Amino acid sequence: MCGIVAYHGPSPALPSLLSGLSRLEYRGYDSVGLALSTAGGERLTIHRAAGRLAALLEVLPDDGTDCSIGIGHTRWATHGAPTESNAHPHLDCAGAVAVVHNGTIDNAVELRAQLAATGHTVVTDVDTEIVAHLIEDQLIRRAGRDLAQLAAAVAAAVGQLQGSWALAVTAVGVPGVVLARHRSPLLVAETSDALLASSDTLGFSGEIVAVREVRDGEIVTLGPDRELSWYDRHGRYIGLPAPLDVHVEHTGTDLQGAPDYTSKEINDQPAAARRLIDRLIGSVPDGTLPAALGVPVPAAVRLVACGSSAYAAQVTAHVLATACGVPARVVTASEHTTDLDDAGTLTVAFSQSGETADVLAARDTWRGPWLAITNNPHSSLARSCDAVLDLGCGPELGVAATKSFTAQVIAGSVFALSVGAARATVDPDQLQQWVDILIGLPDRLAASEALARPVAARLATELADRPGWIYVSRGAGVPYAYEGALKLKELAYRWVEALPAGELKHGPIALVQAGTPVVLIQAQPAARLAVNACELASRGAQIITVGGTNAVLPAVLPSIEPPWGPLEATVALQHLAREMASALGHDVDRPRNLAKSVTVE
Ligand code: M6R
Repeated sequence: MCGIVAYHGPSPALPSLLSGLSRLEYRGYDSVGLALSTAGGERLTIHRAAGRLAALLEVLPDDGTDCSIGIGHTRWATHGAPTESNAHPHLDCAGAVAVVHNGTIDNAVELRAQLAATGHTVVTDVDTEIVAHLIEDQLIRRAGRDLAQLAAAVAAAVGQLQGSWALAVTAVGVPGVVLARHRSPLLVAETSDALLASSDTLGFSGEIVAVREVRDGEIVTLGPDRELSWYDRHGRYIGLPAPLDVHVEHTGTDLQGAPDYTSKEINDQPAAARRLIDRLIGSVPDGTLPAALGVPVPAAVRLVACGSSAYAAQVTAHVLATACGVPARVVTASEHTTDLDDAGTLTVAFSQSGETADVLAARDTWRGPWLAITNNPHSSLARSCDAVLDLGCGPELGVAATKSFTAQVIAGSVFALSVGAARATVDPDQLQQWVDILIGLPDRLAASEALARPVAARLATELADRPGWIYVSRGAGVPYAYEGALKLKELAYRWVEALPAGELKHGPIALVQAGTPVVLIQAQPAARLAVNACELASRGAQIITVGGTNAVLPAVLPSIEPPWGPLEATVALQHLAREMASALGHDVDRPRNLAKSVTVE
């Protein structure tokens, strides 16, 4: 994962780097660091801290103000513990080459051994340090030290790497920054007087006039006087790529009185759902959404995603298969295989960030038309797919997916129903009933929010010390059991078993003892679920029913279950997890070991 930023301009680099890193912390927050350099590269200083940006601010000296060149990094640890010494930037033996890196170097062990054999002293456990030493090796072979020499050295060094990288490099004696990319996102932006680089547009500050994407294999230099040079994988100078059609604006990042972003984003759901439904619902009865997006009406659909997004994909597959007569299968992106390359099938990728490496790897593997359902229409995934369905639910800064999950379920269900209408596989009256249920969804989400929040707070106080939980449902409710359980794991750090209720008796019910909390999400067939509740209660489980106004944890469900199931229960489950995290004193927005955007495979 990790986020990288770079600045080269006439002003001090520090404010731009800090501002960018503060917005890139969603990519990782194990450690943070900067390299600052004077305009001619005469003086290079490194500042690093374990933990979040606030920790770096405490150790930053005041001497960075004359440095107009800088690179910065916020880390999600892969190789080596999240310590200050393992924080980026990483340095060569002489401390003269500084490197920040997003990605992983797969052949780091072999390269480390080679470097040691040729006299390099590699001092950290981090794969990135290898890159600094490889660049050092290349620079030693070259006469002189300028930006072109550093670019050539970086190109030669990355030629020895296997894995993925977005790199920003600066060095003593070099008036600028060199960038390189392979399978990790990297963008360059221009303001009227400076050049910037970032893992994504959130890392940019100031009035941005153009954003360009560094493509795999390319090397880019950020030189003095806004001199931007672009080289292909063979080191040949090429013209600048066309600017991307993006507008950089950092809105929606105000807490608006909420105690944390997760709370704010749970509350955002009714409004976000309303906007999305208003935008899309007209294309359901006449089946025009696939054509409006620019994808064929599919005969079969493959859905690919990770984590919460995969549970939204499961809901969508259920709608396609059970209500619309369209065969659909969900593939966990990290488990995609080449034998599933069915070129005639529409692939729908669900990804809030659009930067999830496992999803992008599937994108590289499978042919055929691709639709991205994402909250980031400028992401790597969106740029690489044939069509994009923008969730438009605004920035989601809490690491736990909340409003993006709800929006994915709505977008996926609307798409599925529109496909069903286009294929005439759904009765029009039935379709209209589901449209009406969708139109009422934002109000039910708001009512569920109001009902569930105080109950969730009480339950969290009562149950905070219970170490093991079980989440169950049936049919269309099962993905919500998985999603609710994931929320509790990532926010409250509790062991949770989530499964279809019918599977309990095949083994997992052995986990149940007096007081084991079992969260039971109401869904059809309700009678079977009621029997499962009896089986659990008779073994001492504490049953927490979710959904329905008489439930232990209430949520307002429609009177008829739609094919996308009890989505409103999600709001109650989000509150439960958030309240548990608060009761346990955890950082709700930044849970341990996690990052918002998972950019390593
Ligand atoms: O950005 P994506 O939707 O592709 O991310 C996939 C998962 O990492 C993500 O959904 C994760 O499971 C959630 N943050 C959990 O709340």
